[in-house]
Amino acid sequence: MSPVLLVENLAKSYGKNQAALSGVDLRVLRGETIVVTGPSGCGKSTLLRCIVRLISPDSGKIIVTGEDVTTLSYSQLLDVRRRIGFVFQNSNLIQRLTALENVCLPLLASGASRDDAEQRARRALERVGLAGSVIHRKPHHLSGGECQRVAIARALAPEPVLMLWDEPTASLDPILVEEVLDVMESLAKTGDTAMVIVTHEMKFALKAADWLILLDKGRIVEQGEPVKVFDCPESELGRKYSRLLDL
Ligand SMILES: Nc1ncnc2c1ncn2[C@@H]1O[C@H](COP(=O)(O)OP(=O)(O)OP(=O)(O)O)[C@@H](O)[C@H]1O
Ligand SMILES: [Mg+2]
Repeated sequence: MSPVLLVENLAKSYGKNQAALSGVDLRVLRGETIVVTGPSGCGKSTLLRCIVRLISPDSGKIIVTGEDVTTLSYSQLLDVRRRIGFVFQNSNLIQRLTALENVCLPLLASGASRDDAEQRARRALERVGLAGSVIHRKPHHLSGGECQRVAIARALAPEPVLMLWDEPTASLDPILVEEVLDVMESLAKTGDTAMVIVTHEMKFALKAADWLILLDKGRIVEQGEPVKVFDCPESELGRKYSRLLDL
């Protein structure tokens, strides 16, 4: 099976600072879930941003469904980005639109009819556990967890081949974190979408990830099936993470 995402030897430095990423390789197949973790500043967000070319890497390849995003023209890049869903730490919903309208928006922007957009948006909202009158509320009448689930539905609705998540639960209180992690786990375990999830939620990684990558100072220091990584870590950082998890 050809990978949905292939990253080879990726490197990125900001100015003269220490490299944010160096020699990073990644391979994600259809339906696979990869969790990327590591200490603050280790390059997690830089990796995700390079994949959609929100920032340009210094070197390396990033192949999304066969196309190298580092060499595409802007219009070709937009086309590839339409196949990728992005969920950020903050839901970034449009405050004057309802939940349903927020989810419809990217579908309408890519040419769907109003009826089709609404049907697909409702389906996506159902997948994150939102249905009924709640979908007609505006964000300030939703909880933080509901807002984040709307943001997940917005990313899911166009049926992306790849979803990138950057600490999707980091700004939620502990109760809401569980609610969003449950949705993420069910999405990770069903469907064909490949997922790269940046998170510090290691119990989630153990339950939902096919592969775990631990970054330290821009380099991969551990990778493998989560249980194996935590059972026999090879790096000092891996051992620290393993101890924290208290398996
Ligand atoms: N725009 C920028 N200009 C200069 N340095 C940057 C920029 N963005 C990130 N960096 C640096 O690059 C390194 C990697 O940053 P990045 O945001 O990718 O880390 P991260 O692992 O996502 O951290 P966090 O867990 O805090 O979100 C850090 O040392 C950071 O200070
Ligand atoms: Mg980050």
